[in-house]
Amino acid sequence: MSFIVAIDGPAGTGKGAVTKILAEKLGLVNIDTGATYRCVALEVLNKKISLEQKDEIIEISKNIKIELKNENREQIVLLNGKDVTSEIRSKEVTQIVSQVSSIKEVRLNMVDLQRKLAKNKNVIMEGRDITTYVFPNADVKIYLDASLDERVKRRYKQNAEKGIHISLEELKKSMNERDENDKNKEIGSLMIAHDAVYIDTSNLSINEVCNKIGKIIKDKLEDIEYTKKIYAIRPETKWKKFVRRIVKTILNALYHIFYRIKIEGEIPKEGACIVCANHLNYIDAAAIVLFNKRKVMFVARETLFYSRILNWLAHLFDIIPIKRGKQDMEAMKRSLKVLSSGQVLGIFPEGTRKGLAKNAKIGNGAAYMALRTGTKVVPVGISGSFKPFTKVYIRYGEPIVFEKQKNPDKEQLQFATNQIMETIIMLTNKKD
Ligand code: DC
Repeated sequence: MSFIVAIDGPAGTGKGAVTKILAEKLGLVNIDTGATYRCVALEVLNKKISLEQKDEIIEISKNIKIELKNENREQIVLLNGKDVTSEIRSKEVTQIVSQVSSIKEVRLNMVDLQRKLAKNKNVIMEGRDITTYVFPNADVKIYLDASLDERVKRRYKQNAEKGIHISLEELKKSMNERDENDKNKEIGSLMIAHDAVYIDTSNLSINEVCNKIGKIIKDKLEDIEYTKKIYAIRPETKWKKFVRRIVKTILNALYHIFYRIKIEGEIPKEGACIVCANHLNYIDAAAIVLFNKRKVMFVARETLFYSRILNWLAHLFDIIPIKRGKQDMEAMKRSLKVLSSGQVLGIFPEGTRKGLAKNAKIGNGAAYMALRTGTKVVPVGISGSFKPFTKVYIRYGEPIVFEKQKNPDKEQLQFATNQIMETIIMLTNKKD
């Protein structure tokens, strides 16, 4: 597993400085992807190849050996074994690097290399297309920006410190050209990823930017730790089974004290099935779980796990956490596993409490799994006011049998979802 912080933005926004500080502070491997393109550009100059000789440039990018090392807290760039850390920042390299990096094949070769450099490491990577192309699923995505004038001023100062003298006007012109070129590449052009955090650094010091990004990284790490805890599977031990039986008995008794439970129909005694019910409140799922001999494993939104006691109960009853509004592959995998092992999965297709009444969009996750696996769906209608000492009806309908489809299309999913929902509604409206 690797943790990836991706930072994109135009030249002069402080990406390099910020990345260096954060890498050191947080123990992340620093990968300056611009340096890889600069190495190709330097090799083009060394071999006296013109920008028109595309095939030769592509060949260079294919065979070039680039290493990024950290020595005495400085990043060292090795090109075919030679230290070129300073050389790749020369005016000549800077002049041609954007055009070199615009060649599609060069980009593909460099992206391949950049991904290899990051493999199985915790990295902080800066460039132009890291958040959008190299690592579109990075854990943290940042877009740094600043006004052109501010960026020109910064670069001028940086150059002066290195003894490089380029006038402000010349710098502004070349940076502007580079920006335009970087924004208009065939692949991996500079743009703001829809899920990146945008930070305008025009009026911020490097420290302020580092603090901002540091906080985002810290929050993300905490979130990952928390999710790990929620998603951790507690193995089915004798002790867990015993505790579950005790808890089930107690909650069952409480339920019977507060409500007059009327149950009609039942879940098939064996084989995999998906129980689909309407969702009225927090305790209707409990009614299905408690009053069944078979273990029903419900899919529930992960926020349920935020409370200590509910988290404990959810793990005890093997509830499957799902992140709402996202494609939660882990939840899907676990649900399919329940079905493939011949057990009972519980889903509220409304997705939210009183979804039908609120006109919520009905999810087709249940229909998808039923069709993909050819598993029958047991529709359940739950009705009652859930006021203490009133009747609560739980009506199980006849299982709906679906034929297995390898890749159900939208229409098939919608049709199956409608069929499930209509049966559920019919069962909830049934009179005594
Ligand atoms: O960040 P830098 O100035 O060292 O980048 C050098 C050039 O490489 C710049 O013009 C844009 C290009 N580049 C790119 O196209 N994609 C990246 N991921 C990084 C840099």
